[in-house]
Amino acid sequence: MKSKDFGLTKEEIMEISDKYLLDIGYHFPIVIEDAKGCYVTDTNGDEYLDFYAGIAVNSLGNCDERIVKAVKEQAEQVMHVSLYPYNVPQAMLAKLICETTGFDRVFFQNSGTESNEAMIKMARKHGVEKFGPDHYEIVTAKKSFHGRTYAALTATGQPETAIQAGFFPNLPGFKYAEFNNLESFREAVSDNTCAIMVEPVQGEGGVYPASKEFLQGLRELCDEKGILLLFDEVQTGWFRCGEPMAWMHYGVRPDAFTMAKALGGGLPLGGVVLTEKCAKVLNPGSHGCTFSGNPVCCAAGYAAINGMIEDKCGENAKEMGEYFREQLKTLPNVKEVRGLGLLVGVEFNDVDAVAVKVKAMENKLLVTATSNRIIRMVPPLIITKEDCDKAVAILKKSVEEVMK
Ligand SMILES: Cc1ncc(COP(=O)(O)O)c(C=O)c1O
Repeated sequence: MKSKDFGLTKEEIMEISDKYLLDIGYHFPIVIEDAKGCYVTDTNGDEYLDFYAGIAVNSLGNCDERIVKAVKEQAEQVMHVSLYPYNVPQAMLAKLICETTGFDRVFFQNSGTESNEAMIKMARKHGVEKFGPDHYEIVTAKKSFHGRTYAALTATGQPETAIQAGFFPNLPGFKYAEFNNLESFREAVSDNTCAIMVEPVQGEGGVYPASKEFLQGLRELCDEKGILLLFDEVQTGWFRCGEPMAWMHYGVRPDAFTMAKALGGGLPLGGVVLTEKCAKVLNPGSHGCTFSGNPVCCAAGYAAINGMIEDKCGENAKEMGEYFREQLKTLPNVKEVRGLGLLVGVEFNDVDAVAVKVKAMENKLLVTATSNRIIRMVPPLIITKEDCDKAVAILKKSVEEVMK
């Protein structure tokens, strides 16, 4: 079958892509040309059940009509203005975010990693201004993931992996402690620490939810030392884990947090959300971004968040997350099923998770693997029990095929 736009076959599109794109080794061998709700269709007409949602982005399902309409209308009105003038969708989205989270200010970025850069810059400047020039150290967690730009990749507590290897020297001023181990963080915090930064649920690192005591303990530790508590909600935010932000589930408020992925409803949009105290640190001239508050991205984000509220995606994430995790325990060779809401991980004892991912794709289910033992699933937040049952049945078949 030929693609609609250029009359090319699937093989031709893959060949062109493999020839001209940087090979960073992530490809699913399919060409997605249509997508609707919880399914994507490739140029061969094959339909796949989508349990990765463009890596936790398409939370309302693919091509939600409300988002598509908002994007079309905004693109016809004004597409880009830069951060100099005011624009309507940016204002409305910032208001919605602050009112939903009870925070004071937002700065929009294009991605998760950029949002983390902005938060890290703020924290270092805060530390230096409050305590002195050496107070720029940030303690993050081992197995964390914060992005691919220099501060974010150094914040990522995986020095032994390809994320950091070969890019040394990294940005100075980061230390790693054991996730869910308060003592380890206490030991890592020094007189030079300005902040602690963690994901409430580690996603890329293998789906490890924080314990309530751990996050509460980090809050107390930060208050005791007068340093900032920063949450990376890039993957966990916007109802993925049930609440608008995962920190709400734990009842632990950070001083600032980042978001991206689902925020833009499928368009590139991230942001850092700050209390007034932190917002004052990034004063005029100290930060910026050409595409910040892009009207089309913000219109998509406004439609996406309102759509998620309207469709009660948070409640569905809680209910389906619980149901799905229970069903996943019935898979063969499972060591542990983890997660919060619809950020779900399955760890196998001795089955190759990457091979399971590939088999699942052949069996028309899209999932991701975070290591050779762990499958991570971040489906649209609109999935039903039927979708979960279908995904579990395909995974069961796929694991059995890999074990043969
Ligand atoms: C927790 C977390 N932070 C940051 C990022 C980086 O986001 P982006 O790929 O939009 O730069 C990711 C991406 O997976 C993430 O999961």
